[in-house]
Amino acid sequence: MSEQKEKRRMSTAEVRKLPRDSTFYVLGVVSRFVQRKDKNDRPFWDISIMDGEGQIEGKIWGNSEWWDIRGDIKYKTDPAEDANVKNLEGQTVGVQGKVVEFRDQNQFNFNAVYCVDQEKYPPHDFVRQSPVPADKMERDFRALVDACGQPIRGFLEYLFFKCGIWRDYSTCPAAVSLHHAYVGGLLEHSLAVTRSALAIARSYSGEGFDVDVVIAGALLHDLGKLESYRLSPTPEVTVAGNVVDHIVMGYRRFMNLAEEYGLDGGPTLAIGHILVSHHGSREFGSPVLPATPEAMVVSVADELDFRFFCWREQTSQLEGGREITDYVAPVQRRFWKSPRPSSPEAPSS
Ligand SMILES: [Fe+2]
Ligand SMILES: [Fe+2]
Repeated sequence: MSEQKEKRRMSTAEVRKLPRDSTFYVLGVVSRFVQRKDKNDRPFWDISIMDGEGQIEGKIWGNSEWWDIRGDIKYKTDPAEDANVKNLEGQTVGVQGKVVEFRDQNQFNFNAVYCVDQEKYPPHDFVRQSPVPADKMERDFRALVDACGQPIRGFLEYLFFKCGIWRDYSTCPAAVSLHHAYVGGLLEHSLAVTRSALAIARSYSGEGFDVDVVIAGALLHDLGKLESYRLSPTPEVTVAGNVVDHIVMGYRRFMNLAEEYGLDGGPTLAIGHILVSHHGSREFGSPVLPATPEAMVVSVADELDFRFFCWREQTSQLEGGREITDYVAPVQRRFWKSPRPSSPEAPSS
């Protein structure tokens, strides 16, 4: 990369806020790279680039330039012949691009791709992390476990710390896109769901909630994501994640560990029910619907945290006084950045 390009380098967050016709240069890790053919049978690529601040998705068209600048001599290359650029997923690249309009929405076209030295720009350095510090999340997590009585506290300590699940659980993403799709995302999401579920449970004192079951169910509701997703180094879905998915895998793992630990049938069934019902409907992958107060609060808290995240992420990208976001298909709505008394803060408490 020339010094000139280094100077113009922007983060993905800055690029997302650029007006149409702006040009940019971004350095990041490729999280998705798919070759397609246009109607004239010419190749083009869908590519997603991630850095510490987010992700942008764009197109590399057939007339784009490809450069190998890993050595002292930089040279033009051809993706049809160069093995180094056949599959860029997981590699750091530089991309030069332009913001264009497509069907009334902004689209990013990348007109030059630079293959860079992976040792000088390690892909791990560009993977997005949870905005909540890891040590704070661990303190909050341990406080929730400590708040439980026996036998659930002992079981959670066994599962997370004696069985060594904590290491994966504390770094796993909660998704590959949409929400908490970054290192530590699953822990951040699970803590938010637990806090929210507890707050709702406490506001309904008449239902006689089993608070320990709410905490365990909320902390474990997405346990199966440890097998559904992996970081390589960006979040991606595993084969088992595609064909079995996290509800079934999480339930299986939970039941095995509950049996290993000797957890009683009562709490095992109550927590297991939360794991299988938390998506709230069969249409969204739960074989049964939430049938207890504990399962109902975890399910609504899960959905709420997902929607809040989408609102925060989408409205934070609005620029130039815009109040309404583009259509967000997974939540079937446009979000409104309505006037707030103060700006929303990153989730941290
Ligand atoms: Fe889930
Ligand atoms: Fe969840």
